[in-house]
Amino acid sequence: MAAIQDSDNRAIPTHVPAELVLPIGLTEGPEFLAAPHAFMASLHDTHPPIFYSTSQHATNAWMLTKYDDVCFVLTHPKIFTTQGATPFPRDPKNYFYMIPLEIDPPEHRKYRGMIDPMLTRNAMAALEGSIRELASRLIDNFIEKGGCEFTTDFGRPLPVSVFLGLMGLPQQMRDTFVGWAVGLLHAQDRKIAESCMRETVAYLHTVIEEKTRTPDEGLLSAIVHGKPEGEPLTAQEIFGFTFFLFIAGLDTVFATLNNVFLWLAHNPDRRQAILANPDNIDRTVDELLRVYSVTFSGRTLTQDYEMRGVKLKKGDKVTCILPAANYDPVAFENPREVNFHRPRKPVLAFGGGVHSCMGAHLARLEMKISITEFLRRIPDFQLKQGARIEYWPGGVVGPKTLPLSW
Ligand code: HEM
Repeated sequence: MAAIQDSDNRAIPTHVPAELVLPIGLTEGPEFLAAPHAFMASLHDTHPPIFYSTSQHATNAWMLTKYDDVCFVLTHPKIFTTQGATPFPRDPKNYFYMIPLEIDPPEHRKYRGMIDPMLTRNAMAALEGSIRELASRLIDNFIEKGGCEFTTDFGRPLPVSVFLGLMGLPQQMRDTFVGWAVGLLHAQDRKIAESCMRETVAYLHTVIEEKTRTPDEGLLSAIVHGKPEGEPLTAQEIFGFTFFLFIAGLDTVFATLNNVFLWLAHNPDRRQAILANPDNIDRTVDELLRVYSVTFSGRTLTQDYEMRGVKLKKGDKVTCILPAANYDPVAFENPREVNFHRPRKPVLAFGGGVHSCMGAHLARLEMKISITEFLRRIPDFQLKQGARIEYWPGGVVGPKTLPLSW
C-alpha cells in the first residue's frame, strides 16, 4: 500500500488511519501562533485524544493531549524512549546525545546524579537573596520611565543572568547566548538554525577547555570534572550535557514569564489578589505554570503499542502536548479558569517521570521572585496602547515582545 501524503507531500506511515491524520500546525501554524494556549486548550473540544499531525519544521508525530496518556508515556521509558526525540540538527559524523534527556534509565541516573544536588530546592533557596536583588536592580532601570519592553528589560535578563551565573559562564556573553538560543529554538529557516548550532558548538568547546584548565563552582565545571561511578565523562558526553543544559535553561523561564506577565497585564483584579495573599504564592506559581506551560515532550516508540484503541508502531514519534494536558477537563475542573486555590495535583509543565525538569526548583523560584518583586514595585500596569502581541514559532511558546506601561 502506498504511503498517504499530507498536503505538504510528506510521507505519513501507512499504518496511520487516514481519519486520524489531522495536521494542526503545532508550534508553527496560524491558529497556533494567533493564541497558542487557547488553541492547545481547545484541542480537547475539536480533536480526538490521539491523532497524527504533520509538521513543516519539526517531526510528524502522534499528538497526545490527555493528562493520563501523557503521564503514562512519561513514566514508561521502556516503551517510549527519549532517544532521537529532540529536533536539533547534529552532524551525523560527530553525533552527540542531549544528556541527560536522550539517555534512557538506568544509565540516565548516572548523569543526573552529577548535578541534581546543585539544583535542589535548598540549593536554589540559597540564591533567593541575590535573585531578588537582581530583580530589584532591573526594575530600578525602568520604573521611572512609565513603561518597559518586558521581554528584553526583565523577562530575558533575569533568568539568563541567573543561569549563566549557575553555569559559570560570562555575563557579558548574555546577548550572544540569547541570539544563539533564539536561532536554535525558534528559527524557521534551517540554515539559521544550523549556523547558530555551529557557533554554539564552537563556543561551548572553548569554554569546556577553559573549565578543564580552571575549575570553578559552576555546573559546567561539575560536568567537566565529575566522575560518576569513578570515571570521568568522555569529551562527547561532556559536550552533550553542556549543550543540553544551555538549550534547556536559556529560554524556558523567559517564555513562561512573558506569558504570565501578559496575563497579569490584562487582569488587574488578579494582581491585587496575588498581592493580598503572599502566603499563597507557591500555589499561584503552580497554577500559572499549569495555564502557561511552554514546552513539549517528544518520545519514540521502542515497540508496537496500542493506546485508546489506536495502534502505534515501533519507531513512531509521539509528541506529548504538555500545555494541552494541563487543560484536560478530566484532570482539572474548569481548566481554563485560573484558580489559585485549585485542589493540588501535579501539573505537567516540567514533564514527569525520570526526565522531569532538573531546573524546576530554580524556575519556580525565579517566577515567584519576578511576580512578587514586580507587583510590589509596580502594582498597576497594562499592555501599552496599540501593542500587538505576536508569538514565537518553535518548541518554546511565548510572545515575542511585551510592551507594558504604567
Ligand atoms: C519554566 C521553565 C522550565 C520549563 C517549563 C521546563 C520544562 C521542561 C520539561 C517539560 C522537561 C522534560 C522534557 C521531556 O521529558 O522530554 C524538562 C527537562 C529538563 N530541564 Fe527544564 N524547564 C524549565 C527550566 C529549566 C531550567 C532553568 C533548567 C536548567 C537549570 C532546565 C533543565 C532541564 C534539564 C537538564 C532537563 C532534562 C532532565 C532529564 O532528562 O532528566 N530546565 N524541562
